Amino acid sequence: MPGIVIIGAQWGDEGKGKVTDLFAERADAIVRFQGGNNAGHTIVRDGEIWKLHLMPSGILHPGKLCVIGNGVVIDPKILTDELDDLRRRNVDTSGLRISANAHLIMPYHMLLDHAGEIKLGKLQIGTTRRGIGPCYADKAARLGIRVQDLLDEKILKKKIVAAMEPKRLSLREFARDPSLDLQAMTEEYLTYGHRIKQYIADTSRLVLERLDEGELVVFEGAQGTLLDIDHGTYPFVTSSNPIAGSATIGAGVGPKDIDEVWGITKAYSTRVGSGPFPTEIEGAFGDELRERGAEFGTTTGRARRVGWLDLVALKYAARINSLTALAITKLDVLSGFKTLQVCTRYRGPEDVEFDHFPYHQTALHHSTGAYEELPGWEEDISRCRTEDELPKNARDYLQYVSDFVKVPVALIGVGPARDEVIWTQAGAGMYGSALA
Ligand code: GDP
Ligand code: IMO
Ligand code: MG
Repeated sequence: MPGIVIIGAQWGDEGKGKVTDLFAERADAIVRFQGGNNAGHTIVRDGEIWKLHLMPSGILHPGKLCVIGNGVVIDPKILTDELDDLRRRNVDTSGLRISANAHLIMPYHMLLDHAGEIKLGKLQIGTTRRGIGPCYADKAARLGIRVQDLLDEKILKKKIVAAMEPKRLSLREFARDPSLDLQAMTEEYLTYGHRIKQYIADTSRLVLERLDEGELVVFEGAQGTLLDIDHGTYPFVTSSNPIAGSATIGAGVGPKDIDEVWGITKAYSTRVGSGPFPTEIEGAFGDELRERGAEFGTTTGRARRVGWLDLVALKYAARINSLTALAITKLDVLSGFKTLQVCTRYRGPEDVEFDHFPYHQTALHHSTGAYEELPGWEEDISRCRTEDELPKNARDYLQYVSDFVKVPVALIGVGPARDEVIWTQAGAGMYGSALA
C-alpha cells in the first residue's frame, strides 16, 4: 500500500499522462490497466515532448517498474516501435513488464474496426481505428490471442486460424490483404514475441509484491469515464472500462489495494469522435477555445470538439469512480475570457431541467447544458505555483467546481510542462499530494 488510481473524469485527454509522470517521480510502480494504443498520453519535460500510446507514463523515470497489465490490448508493432523510439532517445526501458495475459491486437482487428466504421456511415463512432473494439470483442468471445501465445508457434497459428474462422465473411473484402496471410502473420507475430520476451511476466504478482512492501503504486487509466463501455455514452464509447474499478481487474489486484482515486478533468471539456456532448461550443468561439487549448488529438491528430465544463457529468464521474481528489488541468487556457459558463443542469425536451446524468440514451442525446455564469480573469496564470498567486476569480472558479462535485481539488494545471502545476492545501495529507 498505497495504491493510487488516476482516471480520466471526462471523455479522455484530460492530462492523465502529465499527472502520472508527476506521480511517477515518487512512485515505485506505474501500471496501465485498460485500453490500448487508442490512448495518447503527452508528457512535456525540459522542453521535450513525449507522446506515449502503450507505455506507462512512468517510463521516463529510470528504474521504475512500468507494467502493461492484463486488461490492456496490445498492438505489438506499436509496442516495439515505441520501445525503439524510447531507446533512440536514450530512455532506459528495462523496468517494463508486460502481462502474459494481455490480449493482442491482430491485423484483422484493425481491418474490422475500419470496415465497421465505414459500414456505420453517418452513425459511426469515430473510433481511432486501432482495432480496439474488435480485439476486446474477441477477448469476450474467447477467441483472443494473448501475449503468452507469441512464445509458441504451434499454439499461435492454431489460435489465429480459430479466431479468423468466424470472421471469414466480414474479412472477404480483404482477401488480398497481405497482412492476413496466415504464414506471414504468424511469422511477424513470432518476431514480436521474440523481441518482447524479456519483458513478459506475471505482472499481477509483481504489483502485489510492491503493494505488500508498502510501496507506492500508481494505476494509470486511459480514455475517460464517459467513454466507459458500461457507464459512458454507449454506443459512443470505447470497448473497455476506463473507470477506477477497472484498475483492479486490469492489473490483477483487489479492491482493498486502492487507497485513492484521482480524477483528472480539464477546466473545460473536450471530446474526440462522435456522440452526445451537452456542453459543446460550436462556431467561432469554439474554434478560439480549440486553438487556445491546442485541442488536436495526440493519437489521430483530429480536432477535438470543445465545450464548457460539465459539472453534471463531473459529479457523475465522482460517483462512478469514488473520486477522492480532483486534478484540474488547463486552467491557464481559460485566462482572458470575461465570463465563464459552467453547466450545472441539463435541459431536455420541452425545456425540462434536471441535475443528474441521464441513464437513457435518448434523454442524453436531447440534453443541452444549462449554465451558471462565473466571472473570468485576465491574468496569465502560467507562472503561478501556489493557490494564493492565482487571481481571485480563478480561485473562486475552482472552489465552485469542488463545492459542486464535493471532491477536493488537489492539483491544478497551469501549463503543459511538468512543473506548471499548483498543489493545493485541500489535497494536503493525501498520498498523492505527498508527492509534491
Ligand atoms: P491524456 O490522454 O489524458 O494523457 O491527455 P493528452 O496528452 O492526450 O492531452 C492533454 C494535452 O494537454 C497535452 O497536450 C498536454 O501536454 C496538455 N496539458 C496537460 N496539462 C496542461 C495544463 O495544465 N495546461 C496546458 N495548457 N496544457 C496542458
Ligand atoms: P486517452 O487515453 C480521447 C475515443 C475515440 C472514439 C471512441 C472509441 O488519450 O485519453 P476506440 O478507438 O477506443 O474504439 O474509439 O473513444 N477515444 C479517445 N478519446 N482520448 C482517448 O484516449 C481515447 N481513446 C479512444 O475518439 O470516440
Ligand atoms: Mg490523450
